Amino acid sequence: MKHEVIEKNVGLMALLMVFAVSIGGLTQIVPLFFQDVTNKPVEGMKPYTALQLEGRDIYIREGCVGCHSQMIRPFRAETERYGHYSVAGESVWDHPFLWGSKRTGPDLARVGGRYSDDWHRAHLYNPRNVVPESKMPSYPWLVAQLVDNSHTDTKMRTLRTLGVPYSDADIAGARDAVKGKTEMDALVAYLQVLGTAIKNKR
Ligand code: HEC
Repeated sequence: MKHEVIEKNVGLMALLMVFAVSIGGLTQIVPLFFQDVTNKPVEGMKPYTALQLEGRDIYIREGCVGCHSQMIRPFRAETERYGHYSVAGESVWDHPFLWGSKRTGPDLARVGGRYSDDWHRAHLYNPRNVVPESKMPSYPWLVAQLVDNSHTDTKMRTLRTLGVPYSDADIAGARDAVKGKTEMDALVAYLQVLGTAIKNKR
């Protein structure tokens, strides 16, 4: 019997099992590469400016993603608190995306425009300035350090190869656009644009 051949041969059985299981995975994953809803940017969305892009890199460097997600799930409890749920088209230009999953602090996917720049500055300098019970760490060095602009243009050029629509002028002006700015300026600029491509109905 053919079946006996498979049952008595572990290697062959493992191979056929991997094949059978991968069909389920592939039918779910492969179509995502070709659907507009997962590939097309949200209408009216703009790529990060040079300053916002550097701010994003500081967000990554400081490990903010370890306490903050950027992914609002389509549940009432979340949309009531944070605003419109996150859609794939908002993340198409994020390389890598920062959805995260740890929520020691609130989700930040739509924090843009929720507070003033001054609030963010005071909060990042020492969160206890504005939220007395906060457990978030302080980031006082952000006001003292200038943005390292030596790679801003090359970062944008790299992102362009991944499909982010930066123009030659964006790239040519990138270093000057962040010159003399502090890391605090950059991080706040990044936070203030988060989630603003979709109208924040709260
Ligand atoms: C150890 C965990 C932790 C880390 C790391 C952390 N945060 Fe927080 N964050 C919190 C907590 C807890 C709160 C809620 C209390 C508060 O507002 O300070 C918060 C609140 C916030 C808020 C206000 C959100 C809102 O909707 O009210 C912002 C903005 C924020 N964090 C940004 C950042 C940024 C940017 C970084 C990285 C530089 C960062 N956080 C790192 C824990 C953290």
